[in-house]
Amino acid sequence: MSTGSKRDGFSSTLAALMVALGSAVGLGNIWKFPYMTGTGGGGAFLVIYLFFVFCVAVPIMISEFVIGRRSRLNAVGAFRRLTGNPSTPWSGIGFLGAASSYLIMFFYSCVAGWVYCYTYKAATGAFADITKEGAEALFSATIGAGGAEASFFSSTVLAPIFWQVFVLAVVGTIISLGVAKGIERAIKVMMPALFVLLIACVIRALTLPGAADGLYFLFHVDFKQVTPAVVLAAMGLAFFKLSLGMGTMITYGSYFTDDADLSLSPLKIAVADICISMLAGLAVFPTVFSFGVEPGAGPGLLFITIPLVFSQMPFGQVLLFAFFLLTAFAANGAMLSLVEVPTIWMAEEFNISRRRSALINCVIIGAVGILAACSADGTGYLGAATLFGKGFFDLFDYLSSNVTMPIGGLCIAIFTGYVMRRADLFDELSNHGTLRNDGRAAFIRVLLRYVTPVLVLVIFLNALGVIKL
Ligand code: PFF
Repeated sequence: MSTGSKRDGFSSTLAALMVALGSAVGLGNIWKFPYMTGTGGGGAFLVIYLFFVFCVAVPIMISEFVIGRRSRLNAVGAFRRLTGNPSTPWSGIGFLGAASSYLIMFFYSCVAGWVYCYTYKAATGAFADITKEGAEALFSATIGAGGAEASFFSSTVLAPIFWQVFVLAVVGTIISLGVAKGIERAIKVMMPALFVLLIACVIRALTLPGAADGLYFLFHVDFKQVTPAVVLAAMGLAFFKLSLGMGTMITYGSYFTDDADLSLSPLKIAVADICISMLAGLAVFPTVFSFGVEPGAGPGLLFITIPLVFSQMPFGQVLLFAFFLLTAFAANGAMLSLVEVPTIWMAEEFNISRRRSALINCVIIGAVGILAACSADGTGYLGAATLFGKGFFDLFDYLSSNVTMPIGGLCIAIFTGYVMRRADLFDELSNHGTLRNDGRAAFIRVLLRYVTPVLVLVIFLNALGVIKL
């Protein structure tokens, strides 16, 4: 959402909830959640993910809302005001947030480019009567697979870059024209439409032959295959999904009304977000098993299965077009909140206009993001090129979800649990004593002091191999 300098605030608690949900819902639900559940082994990953949502993500979202509403400032200013120290190191959380935004946008804009491309292809009828092999080939072509042998200026290599640049041009234009509010209003209408379409997908997927195997995969819990890396990935997904640990929710909290219940709202957002992710999972996995797609296929999973869901179905091509169009809108909504973070930071820090800042940021994202567009799935122009043992696409994804966002979240939990006075936390959670919820506030404080930060730290050290669980 737009975090412009005027602090107008949300008109109601419901409006605040919807906007926070608008940042949370995006490619994370529709694209990332199903493929990560697939590579993470199904039901066991799901259980671990849900555990982190409630024990780590929800307490951190409560913290972010408390910090935001108490200070009524952005992520950097909030810590300065709450500590009363203009040079407090805690404001570093805001800068870490800008780093997370860049890292996410480098690959998110690339995946959004695939969605735009699929929307266009669906409009031209490219998916009519598609087979599994056809869907796989189309995805490979979309991400520029096999471009390692082609010249950089060949259409194979340039296609994903073209779509990524197109996405950034759209997002940059929306931000610099200052029409983000209008777009967000459109998203409020599009989100329920996406929800309805997802339900249609689920019904179709569940009636495919062999759908039960997909349900078994999604809900059968077998912890034997769970590794420390899978646990870290599940925790990272919880941060990514709910836009946490980077100050986005601090900014949203600063717009909340005085009577919003800051301990219940995150719970509602998390549950709504899980519902949308589960619908995506219920559309994807029965199809995966019905058509014999590999569940651990990775980032291509959605792009291979959804065209198959709609194939051989009345109005399938129209519905497929609507699906990708609505997904593109959801991705745009999330990207507006992502690009806003460095845009407002750079505009204020270097005293440049908002428009120039948006332009500079989109150029930076595009320039570095090309590395992601050329390395998705390890099959593009950059082939097997790696940095720290990972291709660029994976590296940007890994660093944001598994390093910078959890570090930001850890600091935020410690700040609210240990630095903020107990009385201030209780005062904010009870809306200055109007809600009688001291018991709940005490429970949340225990989580923020002894559970959430410890979990984040332990999962980190476990994944690094420093400790062995
Ligand atoms: N939560 C978004 C998604 O799941 O698609 C991604 C995201 C948006 C992450 C905004 C962080 C953020 F600040």
